[in-house]
Amino acid sequence: MSSNDGTAVTVLGLGDMGGALAAALVDAGHRTTVWNRTPGRDAALVAAGASSAPTIREAVTASPVVIACLLDHASVHETLDPVATDLEGRALVNLTTTRPSHSRELAGWAADAGVDYLDGGIMAVPPMIGTSSASILYSGSETVFRTSRPILDAWGTSTYFGEDAGLASLYDLAILSGMYVMFAGFFHGAAMVATEGVSAGEFAAWATPFLAAMTGELEGLAKVVDGGDYTVPGQQSLEFSDLDDLLRASAEQGVGTEAVAMVQGLIRRQIDAGHGDEAFARIYEGIRHPTGDRGTA
Ligand SMILES: NC(=O)c1ccc[n+]([C@@H]2O[C@H](COP(=O)([O-])OP(=O)(O)OC[C@H]3O[C@@H](n4cnc5c(N)ncnc54)[C@H](OP(=O)(O)O)[C@@H]3O)[C@@H](O)[C@H]2O)c1
Repeated sequence: MSSNDGTAVTVLGLGDMGGALAAALVDAGHRTTVWNRTPGRDAALVAAGASSAPTIREAVTASPVVIACLLDHASVHETLDPVATDLEGRALVNLTTTRPSHSRELAGWAADAGVDYLDGGIMAVPPMIGTSSASILYSGSETVFRTSRPILDAWGTSTYFGEDAGLASLYDLAILSGMYVMFAGFFHGAAMVATEGVSAGEFAAWATPFLAAMTGELEGLAKVVDGGDYTVPGQQSLEFSDLDDLLRASAEQGVGTEAVAMVQGLIRRQIDAGHGDEAFARIYEGIRHPTGDRGTA
């Protein structure tokens, strides 16, 4: 995607995502060394020009920049703890999905080991890697972010959020929260119409344009939240948003109601506290302040 200087780079983890990251680096002309816990997953990469490291020690010492894309936080420690001294003086970019607390813990571990640490959150699926529609969020060492741009930009659009290593992960998980709750709502709708013989594919064709249009509402809802005034005119009220009929219809069709009941719980909490004529966006307060009066006052 970008011009590159053929920087040497090592990729640890050749699963679906790690494999896509490594392939994009090879395509971009970087001298790429690859390693995977289970041998035999690197054949296509080696055929394309990557070097295979038989041991983790040989992998991390092959390059000044080491990329980790493993299953989870525990697997990162399991892999890197034994080679901490070999990593000293190198840059570690961890693209494994982790919690912010995990990212900060790993940044501390890296600092103790003399490793320059950059954390990343991948907002993409493997086929998007190597295209500008793949967005990768970074935080941690600004030096690593700046000096590794030829590597990072081979994957997609790179954005840096600051020195706090937990920030990229926080944004990553926050955006994924929106995705998963939307998907749950889609499955709920698909289950409702399935009771009348409609396939999920047919439902998707109907639901997609409307849901895509609704994402256009997010900016306006965000303005209400940021303004903190839920009495502003022109907003759909909480009373109007009451999902009781939606829940009853779901039960009448014989489908589970958990996904919608969760949203209804947030709405009812505000209505019961006397805010029924205020904006639907007020459910944000119940999420932001889950305990005590602040979520309803
Ligand atoms: N796939 C996506 O769409 C996507 C999108 C965004 C972010 N991510 C993140 O990217 C990371 C990798 O995802 P993936 O899709 O590549 O997963 P995957 O296909 O399941 O691959 C998992 C990788 O982790 C390795 N691994 C698992 N446990 C390990 C351990 N204890 N020690 C060493 N290596 C271990 C596996 O090695 P073996 O071959 O030896 O099992 C494999 O290379 C995850 O954190 C995921 O959340 C993925």
